[in-house]
Amino acid sequence: MRQNILAPSILAADCAVLGEQIKAIENGGAKYVHIDVMDGVFVPSLSFGIPVVSSVRRITGLTLDVHLMIIHPLKYIRSFVEAGADSITFHYESEDDPDELIRVIRETGCKVGMSVRPDTRIEEIYQYLDKIDMLLIMTVQPGFGGQKYIRESTMRIAQASNYISSHKLDCDIEVDGGITEETVRIVLEVGANVIVAGSAIFKGDAESNCRKYMEILNSTQKGEVL
Ligand code: DX5
Ligand code: ZN
Repeated sequence: MRQNILAPSILAADCAVLGEQIKAIENGGAKYVHIDVMDGVFVPSLSFGIPVVSSVRRITGLTLDVHLMIIHPLKYIRSFVEAGADSITFHYESEDDPDELIRVIRETGCKVGMSVRPDTRIEEIYQYLDKIDMLLIMTVQPGFGGQKYIRESTMRIAQASNYISSHKLDCDIEVDGGITEETVRIVLEVGANVIVAGSAIFKGDAESNCRKYMEILNSTQKGEVL
């Protein structure tokens, strides 16, 4: 049974008090911290890099879920691992070879994640699902927080989830972008189990927002007798 996990994205956090914000999500029941890395090339914006991962590592035992929205991820894998990443997700559409990325991340002992943009055909990545630990299905165009969930994503999550179950694979499905109290129920229902949320958590009180989402995640845990 795949466990439902909340992964707050610190892109929406107040970095002036990042330590406090991370304590708040720990207290609220989150298990992952989602760290978005952007290079201004793969996506138009810039965000965090290796020093931020090291700083966050020093203050928390939560799983550091690093999402690389960069054109050449291969070059930086080892640096992110040394900085303390537990899980590294690269984009299928980056310029590096997915098989090579999977091999290099696997060698470090980190969890291997692969992400797809909303406009990439989901069938293209089926061939990798037995080699990775997590598939990240972008539910907005990568690059910015606070966007609206793309409705067509629901079918893509369902398709990947059916493939994973019918082939009995051990692969989490993470979703990222536009998650709200309404869309979280939809994505959980069709098979997502790792839920990234930025604005939904860090706008207002992060601890109580986490508790609210954790309640939804726990009550929709698949395979549990309710
Ligand atoms: C977008 C990032 C997301 C972002 C989500 O490219 O990958 O992780 O922080 O933000 P919300 O939850 O506000 O849509
Ligand atoms: Zn992300």
